[in-house]
Amino acid sequence: MCGIIGYAGHRPAVPVCIEGLRRLEYRGYDSAGVAFVEAGGLRIIKQKGKIAELEKDIAASGNVMQAMTGIAHTRWATHGEPNQVNAHPHVDDSGKLAMVHNGIIENFGSLRQMLQSEGHNFVSETDTEVLLKLISREKNGEKSVSKAISKALQQAEGAYAIVLVDADRPGEIWAARKHSPLVMGLGTGENFLASDIPAFLPYTREVVFIEDGELVHISANSWKVMDAVTLEPVAKEVHTITWDVQAAQKGGYKHFMLKEIFEQPRVIRDCLTGRLDTKEKCVRLPELDTLEVPKRLVIVACGTSYHAGLWGKYLFETWARIPCEVDIASEFRYRDPILCEGDLVLSISQSGETADTLAGMRLAREQGIPVLGLCNVVGSTVSRESDAVLYTQAGPEISVASTKAMCSQLTMLMTMALYWGQKSGSINAQIMQQAVDGLHNLPEALDDALPAMRETARTISRKYADSRSFLYLGRGPNYPLSMEGALKLKEISYIHAEGYAAGEMKHGPIALIDPHFPSFAIALDDDLFPKVKSNLIEVQARGGKIVALTNSGLDLDVDDAWILPRAWGPLSAFMILPALQLFAYETADYLGKDVDQPRNLAKSVTVE
Ligand code: M6R
Repeated sequence: MCGIIGYAGHRPAVPVCIEGLRRLEYRGYDSAGVAFVEAGGLRIIKQKGKIAELEKDIAASGNVMQAMTGIAHTRWATHGEPNQVNAHPHVDDSGKLAMVHNGIIENFGSLRQMLQSEGHNFVSETDTEVLLKLISREKNGEKSVSKAISKALQQAEGAYAIVLVDADRPGEIWAARKHSPLVMGLGTGENFLASDIPAFLPYTREVVFIEDGELVHISANSWKVMDAVTLEPVAKEVHTITWDVQAAQKGGYKHFMLKEIFEQPRVIRDCLTGRLDTKEKCVRLPELDTLEVPKRLVIVACGTSYHAGLWGKYLFETWARIPCEVDIASEFRYRDPILCEGDLVLSISQSGETADTLAGMRLAREQGIPVLGLCNVVGSTVSRESDAVLYTQAGPEISVASTKAMCSQLTMLMTMALYWGQKSGSINAQIMQQAVDGLHNLPEALDDALPAMRETARTISRKYADSRSFLYLGRGPNYPLSMEGALKLKEISYIHAEGYAAGEMKHGPIALIDPHFPSFAIALDDDLFPKVKSNLIEVQARGGKIVALTNSGLDLDVDDAWILPRAWGPLSAFMILPALQLFAYETADYLGKDVDQPRNLAKSVTVE
């Protein structure tokens, strides 16, 4: 999830681009770079680290104020280490085309091989350089840059928003998108392209949203949107933005948490890019190819990542038949755990910097046990200290309460269970097919469901906002989800909440129940529904009020039945999770709490 900007106009392009990057820095920040076209040709300045590092290099690079056309990038690494060579913009062999990219080109490996066999050299490890060199190849013998881009994009699979300049055509910029955001800003004598509106908001509020499959050409005084295949013009509507910059960074949402909840369909899509083969009905995780199928999986994590691990256990055991233990990292590290040959420790961490999780994985490595990292931040300590690493591709998560990161972890855990199930032959073809098709269709289904979910969350949260305590109840894989629902509620609304296995109620907690102590139940149409239902009847018999996430057509009589769309098997988690997140969000917002930065909490717990 990188930030990109392109500028063609009457102002010096470099300061406009750098200022734009600053307002996009929340999208990613492990390296940054700018390319600009001036009389002497194309110049590129890029550097590892935050934008301040790039600015130092720019200051040392002499006069950069002549160029009126430029492109720039702030990176959130997906391929290759976050270093200067992998930083964008990338340049083609002729030194004339430069490009920035946000997204993932799935077939970059085979394209790279093809280009190498034709004599192209690669300096970086990125998929971006591959796509650029493919465009450059198509440009040979092609007068139109748009045509070259179009031809190259027809060979590329995956997600992208690209912005490109050509030293032979100063004053012009090209861009295209598929599954990665791209917007165009229309000024007077200047036009902009960016991954997000804040990049150009100080200059213009007139915006055109670029859609998948569109290709754009701009100059200072013109703009054109075309179909990326036929190059026929596409009519576009110009929108006027009324938000301020801060609101725009939140995409018009009131809080980052809400924005991140609504990003989840995109997160699932990014996570699955290159990993799901819908033709062959299988999953591909080349990162795991060199590892044996573990004899036992030991998951070590904290907080929300721990809940994701607990949920994953069900799939590892059911589909891959791998015995699985899940430990809170701060417990694991001090309890002298028994680890054996054939074990694999899976360390789950959004940030990749959580002190206890790191200590847990170090303990395992000291005993010669391989560690697989599942994390969101390329180059983080978890990724560096693991024997193999899988990235969750969720993009930077800003709200302290983790939402989209867990969604990406669940997606990856499911994919891993399918991968090991297919490798060991323990999963049957029908399940595999249902899972692959279900995952493929999931982003759209969730996108459709989220707006109504938010409305329901708002209505129900108002009724319960004065509660002092909540029990969250679930069974099977919905038990860890109930723990996550409780964690979300307590961390942002400060209402006490506990997640409980519904079947455990009668062993103690039911004593708490009275008309002022509500329960939030997960009672979906699955094998355990009859069991959950009888647990809820027991609660009702003690006067307890119940909100239940459920499906239509079920015989369930509760105070507030929250009907969720049906989803196949474990995919129901992807409907349950945002409902839990939205309930916590709406409660906290209604109570006037600081949703994005709750008291006493840090985004990343890097000390013990
Ligand atoms: O970065 P990590 O995934 O390792 O972080 C683990 C926990 O600190 C984190 O999930 C925390 O529980 C969040 N505040 C939950 O919303």
